[in-house]
This record gives sequence, structure tokens and C-alpha cells, in this order.
Amino acid sequence: MPPTRIEVAAGAGAYPVIIGSATLATLPRLLDQTALGPRRIIVSSPVVWELHGHAVRRASTEAAPILVPDGERFKNSVTVSRVYEGLLEAGADRSIVVIAVGGGVIGDLVGFAAATYLRGVRLVHVPTTLLAQVDSAIGGKVGINHPLGKNLIGAFHPPRLVIADPSVLATLPRREFRAGLYEVVKYGVISSPALLEQVASSLPALFKRDEAILAQVVSESCRIKAEIVSGDERESGVRRVLNFGHTVAHALEAITKYRRFRHGEAVAYGMLAAMHLGVGRGITPAAARDRVAELIAKLGPLPPVADLSSKEVIGAIAHDKKIVEGTLHFIAATDIGTTTTLKDVTEKELKAAVRAIGVKKN
Ligand SMILES: NC(=O)c1ccc[n+]([C@@H]2O[C@H](COP(=O)([O-])OP(=O)(O)OC[C@H]3O[C@@H](n4cnc5c(N)ncnc54)[C@H](O)[C@@H]3O)[C@@H](O)[C@H]2O)c1
Ligand SMILES: [Zn+2]
Repeated sequence: MPPTRIEVAAGAGAYPVIIGSATLATLPRLLDQTALGPRRIIVSSPVVWELHGHAVRRASTEAAPILVPDGERFKNSVTVSRVYEGLLEAGADRSIVVIAVGGGVIGDLVGFAAATYLRGVRLVHVPTTLLAQVDSAIGGKVGINHPLGKNLIGAFHPPRLVIADPSVLATLPRREFRAGLYEVVKYGVISSPALLEQVASSLPALFKRDEAILAQVVSESCRIKAEIVSGDERESGVRRVLNFGHTVAHALEAITKYRRFRHGEAVAYGMLAAMHLGVGRGITPAAARDRVAELIAKLGPLPPVADLSSKEVIGAIAHDKKIVEGTLHFIAATDIGTTTTLKDVTEKELKAAVRAIGVKKN
């Protein structure tokens, strides 16, 4: 199958996302074609480099990659400084192209380093987790965590090129893979009944990491995200639909100190809560809620929530709203594939929705 190419519009210039098996091998040629040079340096993590360094090494002009630890707890200013040091030690000037090879943590962190080093150098994303391929590598948001909260320090720094090769997903731990699949389900619910049904009907092949089906699912997800962010680079309006399921997800992650859930797992709960809330209002058909619930159940077990208190969840939503959003824009599904934004969601409705997903009363 030939690779899929999707253009993403950005203020700084459109960039292509190239999806397909064996596209990593073509990276050096692609970089030459797009005149991305003359010096290119790879930044990755030891884990990802060990597994996939051989496939990308030739894209670099430098003797050695810069390796920094990944994982959420390293997504901070200390690790960014290590990237700066690596770039300075390599004598990187403003013409350097930084190639981020890894999951969403590496993408966000290295992207932030690229946005700020010498006031900004060019960036290429080679996402190696399903979540990074369908979500974090597209859209230009980069950043790091602050001890007081997630993703509070950041920038918009769109890449020049994104290469998503499904073959790298073969080595992804099953739980990480599933975490990415929930974001794919999200794209289905907000925009594509066909994608939702494709996931539902291909689970065995997906879990076997069948590259052809993965390429299709990743391409369709990227197409949806690209279309949405192209219309709203700085998240003033339409981009908010990508936050479907994320109001409750962020609250669940925060009250469990980011330790219990993989982000996608929290999103799975958040989507269920949003479907319940929509049904409660009479805007979401019960059949759509049940279809999503059935698929999420089929994707495997989620961490427990029965010990969490709905009061705490609501408190965290209110806190998040104060810091990040001002007013709560709650995305609800009017069916599978269509959404609406609710700006008048009450505490009572939120409480009922989180109770419906199994969170305890107080
Ligand atoms: N910028 C955005 O728009 C955006 C969107 C969504 C999420 N994010 C960010 O993405 C981050 C989460 O990304 P993630 O889920 O990819 O987590 P991650 O980057 O921590 O990767 C998960 C784990 O998988 C390992 N790994 C990566 N690729 C692998 C491979 N091919 N084989 C085996 N192991 C591999 C990593 O070493 C890591 O331990 C969060 O920090 C989140 O804030 C950003
Ligand atoms: Zn998400």
C-alpha cells in the first residue's frame, strides 16, 4: 500500500503527515526533498532508541543522538535543559533540524526545546506510540509540565514534517496500545461512525498490530485531527471538539495524581460520562451511548473508579475550568459522528454522569 499523505494547515506554513509501512526507511530522502537540512539531529529516549534507532539513524547527520528519559515524570524543565545541552554541545545553530523520535512525552518535550532553542529551530516528528501518531504529533502544541500542573508551560510550534510508520507499534506494550485506541474511538464518536465501526470490527487484527489495518485507522484519525486543527490552530473554537471526553478525564487523572490511569483510559471514562450526560439531557440517543459503552468494554478492562468520590471529581473539574478555560465548554455527542457544545452544564448533571460511570457518591 502506498503511504497516505495529509496536509495540515498552520500559520507558519502547511506541513505533511505521511503515514504508511516502511515510511521510516524513506525519511532521509523525504528530508532531502523538503530541503530540511543541512544538519539534522535526533532526540529520543533510550527505550525507543534501543528498539527503533536502527530504522531512523540514517536520517541524522550527527554521530550520536541526544537521548533523554521519557515518561510523564520527566516531562519537565530539567529534561528540556538536557536537550538544550545536547544541542549546544553538538554546536547546533539556527539551521539545525531537530527530529523527535518517541511517544507523546518526547514529542511535546523535544518540540518545546525546538520552539525555544535559539528562539526556534525546525522540528520533525517521528511518533512511535499510537497516541502520538493519532494525536500529539499533529497540531503544533508542544510543552512540559510544571510541579503545579500538567502542560502548563508550552508553545505552538508546528513541525515541518510528521512520519507515522505503523511498524513501530509492534513493540508497544498492550496497555499503551489500548490507551491510544481510546483516542481513535474519540475521533469516531466526534466525527466518523465508519471509523468507530472499523475499530469495532477489526479488534483481533488491531491487537495483532496488523500494519495494513493500523495504517488505515491512523490515517483516518490523522485526517480528522488535521481537518479540525487546520481550521483552528490556536484552539479558539472548533478545536475544542477534540476535548470530547476530556473534561472528566482530566479530573480523574488529577485526583489520582496522574498515577492510576493512562491518559487514554481516563478519556474512555470521560467519553462514557459525556454520553450519559447527553442522554440525561435528551440530546444523545441511548443507542449511541450503548454502542460506545459496548466498544469500550470490548477494548479491555479499565482501572477502577469505584473508590473515587464524585465530589472530588466535580471539584477538580471546577479547578481545571478556573485555570484553563474560564467557562466550561462541555462537548456532547448528538449521535455517533456529531457533537454539540454545552455551556450551561450544571454540577448536578456532572455528578449524575460521573456516578453513572461508577464513581461513588461522596
Ligand atoms: N501535543 C498534543 O497535542 C498532545 C496531545 C495528546 C497528548 N499529548 C501528550 O502526550 C503524552 C503521552 O504520550 P504517550 O501516551 O505516547 O506516552 P509516552 O511518550 O510516555 O510513551 C509511553 C511509553 O511507551 C514507550 N514507547 C514509546 N514508543 C514505543 C515503541 N514503539 N515501542 C515500545 N515502547 C515505546 C515510552 O518509552 C514510554 O514508556 C502526554 O504527556 C500528553 O500530555 C500531547
Ligand atoms: Zn487526549
